[in-house]
Amino acid sequence: MTIEFQFNGKTVRTDAPTDKPLLWVIREDLGATGTKFGCGIAQCGACTIHLDGSPTRSCVLPIAAVAGRSVTTVEGVDSKAAMAIRKAWRELDVVQCGYCQSGQMMSATALLEGNPSPSDDDIDNAMGGNLCRCATYHRIRAAIHQAAEDLSGETA
Ligand code: FES
Ligand code: FES
Repeated sequence: MTIEFQFNGKTVRTDAPTDKPLLWVIREDLGATGTKFGCGIAQCGACTIHLDGSPTRSCVLPIAAVAGRSVTTVEGVDSKAAMAIRKAWRELDVVQCGYCQSGQMMSATALLEGNPSPSDDDIDNAMGGNLCRCATYHRIRAAIHQAAEDLSGETA
């Protein structure tokens, strides 16, 4: 069965088994390796992508579930919020080993797209499912606040 979906703005088709997790279609079949495998059981957030704009764990999502839908990964996310997040991540030197960070950035981008001025609690709620073994949590929070300030300056 051929499954068609939008991937980073382009229409793609796959004949992968319908229960193959989206993460492995992205990495193995589409060659986009920015999205990482951490736990494989929806507990760490390393594999976070946007499905129709919502942060979603791709390691447990069967490819059949994305038919006709829109999948965006860290390679393709290009909203204003995504740009502000990238800039803040660079300026505050958020990354340590980097492994968790594409998932962190995808969750942070979705947060700012829905809430342009998040409180610390909002950030904790939105980011709580994204684990970082290097404990970059304080820099992540600061970077989200900085990105939010950048965005508010842009629209003021
Ligand atoms: S690899 Fe998907 S949540 Fe950990
Ligand atoms: S930066 Fe190393 S796991 Fe998060």
